[in-house]
Amino acid sequence: MQTDLFSLRDKTLLLTGGAGLYGRGLSSMLAQTGATLILAARDVAKLQVVADEETKKGNHVFAEALDQGDESSVMALHERINAQFGALHGLVNNAVLRPMKGANGAVEQFADSMRVNATGVMLMHRHFGQTMANAGRGSIVNIGSIQGMIGPSYELYTGTDMGDMPPDYFFHKGGMENLTRFYAALYGPKSVRVNCLSPGGFFNNQPEPFLSRYCEHTMLNRMADADDLGGAVIFLLSDASRYITGVNLPVDGGYTAK
Ligand SMILES: NC(=O)c1ccc[n+]([C@@H]2O[C@H](COP(=O)([O-])OP(=O)(O)OC[C@H]3O[C@@H](n4cnc5c(N)ncnc54)[C@H](O)[C@@H]3O)[C@@H](O)[C@H]2O)c1
Repeated sequence: MQTDLFSLRDKTLLLTGGAGLYGRGLSSMLAQTGATLILAARDVAKLQVVADEETKKGNHVFAEALDQGDESSVMALHERINAQFGALHGLVNNAVLRPMKGANGAVEQFADSMRVNATGVMLMHRHFGQTMANAGRGSIVNIGSIQGMIGPSYELYTGTDMGDMPPDYFFHKGGMENLTRFYAALYGPKSVRVNCLSPGGFFNNQPEPFLSRYCEHTMLNRMADADDLGGAVIFLLSDASRYITGVNLPVDGGYTAK
């Protein structure tokens, strides 16, 4: 077997939202591959801390400003990256904005969410994906959610104050799954692959009895941690998945299989 199938060494990768719950673990695992990793989000100072921590370990990590809700910001990042690194080899759309609080959250919050999580994600595919297509190679990995695959499981939250889930998240994460197929079809002839990973809930000291109920609903009997997503992302970015495109892969400990 070829041992370098999973290698991302010397590739240039862009990860959006690289300092958040899942993002920090992804930053670390992608940095360790030996790729040049660019992190992009609105709060560059926070990303710079991550970049500095990773650089101290000998990795190549840079922080860049991006407001995914603003096309000029997406285009400016695209231009800066093109000028400095050329066409990306890999893009991980991980950033998310969660402005809507609950089922009856304001319509303005729903619109804000769509600007970043729907229009913004589309723009990332349009600008960065087209450059990858022009280069004749590349891999885009969209971070979806099990909440884009199934409806709310209200029964998990009984007895906690957590159960008022917002509709925008279910809408745009569901949309991300099929947007993945759209761009997989559009860019496939240019050897750019587009796939979606749908993680389950990240352990963040959630209260009982939610925690026990959630864990019991998974097959692995636990929530996700910072190391659970990276392997699947590396696989989809690498040549090991060279004939895989347009798929949605749940990374949820079996939550949606039950
Ligand atoms: N946390 C979970 O339990 C969970 C479960 C399933 C899926 N996910 C998905 O995993 C991904 C990461 O989630 P997380 O919980 O780590 O998120 P998080 O809220 O901790 O981090 C989100 C990141 O997105 C960035 N961001 C927000 N708005 C932005 C904008 N306008 N422009 C650029 N960047 C922006 C933030 O700066 C932040 O770095 C998301 O796509 C999320 O939907 C998370």
